[in-house]
This record gives sequence, structure tokens and C-alpha cells, in this order.
Amino acid sequence: MILLLGASGYIGEAFEKAIKERTGALMTVSRKRIDYTRFDVLLNLLRKIKPTFLINAAGYTGKPNVDACETARADTLAGNTLFPQMIAHACAITGTPWGHVSSGCIYSGAKVAQHGEVSVEKDLTKPGLRELADSNPSAIHGYSEIDEPNFTFRNPPCSFYSGTKALAEEALDGIGECYIWRLRIPFDDIDHPRNYLTKVQRYDKVYDNVNSISHRGDFANACLNLWEARAPFGIYNMTNSGCVTTRQVIEMIQRILKPSRKFEFWANDDEFYKLAAKTPRSNCVMDTAKLLATGIRMRPIEEALEDALRNWKPAS
Ligand SMILES: NC(=O)c1ccc[n+]([C@@H]2O[C@H](COP(=O)([O-])OP(=O)(O)OC[C@H]3O[C@@H](n4cnc5c(N)ncnc54)[C@H](OP(=O)(O)O)[C@@H]3O)[C@@H](O)[C@H]2O)c1
Repeated sequence: MILLLGASGYIGEAFEKAIKERTGALMTVSRKRIDYTRFDVLLNLLRKIKPTFLINAAGYTGKPNVDACETARADTLAGNTLFPQMIAHACAITGTPWGHVSSGCIYSGAKVAQHGEVSVEKDLTKPGLRELADSNPSAIHGYSEIDEPNFTFRNPPCSFYSGTKALAEEALDGIGECYIWRLRIPFDDIDHPRNYLTKVQRYDKVYDNVNSISHRGDFANACLNLWEARAPFGIYNMTNSGCVTTRQVIEMIQRILKPSRKFEFWANDDEFYKLAAKTPRSNCVMDTAKLLATGIRMRPIEEALEDALRNWKPAS
């Protein structure tokens, strides 16, 4: 039986659906009923129900967005770093294998191949680079699991949220049997305030950058597939393969959903950070070769986006 923490959340919901579709035995807990964020409570629960696998889809993300984490630092640190470390110890004591939902937001930029050299570029909006993403996307390479995260407390600048997610990966290193699944900018066909495709349609102005992103259902299913295949534990970048610019996403929305509104873009980072965002945002490209080498596939980004938009279910 799988024990799912954070099932009431946006990502937890997707895990619950994917597990039920496989008719797998599942137990979900909410802090309202059992405060699983307390070590003694979680340890007793693990000893009592003896799950075959635990999924941690709980964490502190900040609402409506990561700017909220800047003012709720204790909650952010407790929910995203102390809590997963605590789970790791409880799972190690009970011999429970588990998976933790981390984030690709611990990186900024991409590795760019130009003039016979590959360089790390933290800011893809720099003159020349943003154009390259359109003219020669194959020059933009993602960060792999062995690249050191570069949007963290150790490699600032970063948002407080990203800092705590990166610190959690460090804290989990070497404890027990654990998958670290790096999710990035979730989206699917269901209109929802947390869905990237909903967000970009609701912004007054859109921020253009280059990103790897994760279809929510593809993500949950690929995570479960890794466990079912007994793939080696460790870190996995769990995005749909490739990368996409926000302008390309907007073009797809216009082509498929044909909204009546017109989309405007922030002129540049200065304007965006002055008027719309408080803390630095991670925009980055991820390399998914490690996941694909296990034989587990997440669809290419364009295919997953096209599917989500063609099956779009607007909120009533
Ligand atoms: N959504 C994204 O854009 C995104 C991107 C990358 C990674 N992630 C990661 O995915 C995980 C789940 O995110 P989500 O978007 O599903 O978040 P969410 O919708 O806010 O749900 C998180 C759930 O975690 C539980 N929880 C436990 N401790 C908490 C705490 N201290 N503060 C707040 N909630 C707490 C809550 O469930 P109960 O109270 O019912 O137990 C809550 O429903 C997080 O680790 C997040 O960092 C999310």
C-alpha cells in the first residue's frame, strides 16, 4: 500500500488519481486528521500501516505565488526542508522506500552551445540568447542531475522558496531509499489557479522566458512508473522533454483556444520585477536523459501542451 502525504494539494491530487487508475492500494492523510509533520506521529503511522512506498507531495509553496514565501520564511523552511528531512529519517528507521517531490526551480538558465563551446547561462533573456531559443533550440541544453543547482542559498540569487527546496535535496542525500523527483511548472487540461496554462491566460501581462515544464498527470505517472520498475533511487528531472518559450505557449493558446483577449508581454526583466514580481523567478531548462534511459517516458512538451489545450476544461 502507498501512503500519500499532501493528497489535498495540487500535485497530491494527481498522484491520488494516478494511483487509483492503477487500482493500487492507497492511504491518504491530511494534517487536519493526522499531523504527519510531527516525527513521532509519522513514525508511529509507518510502524502501524507498514506502507510499501511513501510519497511526499506535501510542502509549502506560497499562495498565490512564491512571493508569499518571502514573508512566511519559517513556514517555507519547515515545510520544504525540515519536513522532508524528518520523513527521510522516519523512512530510514522503518525501511520504507519513498519519493519526494522536489523542484526544477533550483536552477536558472541553461547550458548553451555556441561557437564550439558550451557555457552556463543563468539568464536566457540576455540579448542574443532569447533569440537563439527560437532560431536554434538545439543549442539550448538542459541541466542534468549531476549539475550543481545554481539558484540556491549556496549559489544566489534565488527565491527563498527555491533555497529551501535545494537545501532539502542536500538534507536527503545519503539517507535511506529515496527518489527525488524534480517537477517544474505543472500544467494539464483542467483550468485551476495552480495550472500554468490558467496562470498565463489570467496574467495582465505575460513574462516571456524559456522553460522546461511538467504535465501534471505525466509527472505523477512517470514517478509511479519509476517506483514500479524499481529504477535506481536518486534524483530525476521529471519534465516533459524539451523546452518552450512563454511566447510559444501563448501562440498555442491563441491557435487552439482562440480566446477573445489579446496578450501583452512585459517589455523586459526590469519592468517585470519592478511591477509584477518581488522575488527572483527561476526560469530554466532541464535535461531528462536520465529518466528516458530508464525506459520511462514523459511526452515531448509540444505534444503534452497540445493535448492539454485540445482537451481544455474551463472552470465553470
Ligand atoms: N505547484 C508547483 O508549481 C510546484 C512546482 C514544483 C514543485 N512543487 C512541489 O510539489 C509539492 C506539492 O506542491 P503543491 O503545488 O501540490 O502544493 P499545495 O497545493 O499547496 O499542497 C500542498 C499540501 O501539502 C500539505 N502540507 C503539509 N505541510 C504543509 C505546510 N507546512 N504548508 C502547506 N501545506 C502543507 C497540505 O495538505 P494537508 O494540510 O491536507 O495535509 C497541502 O494541501 C511541494 O513540495 C512543492 O514544492 C510544486
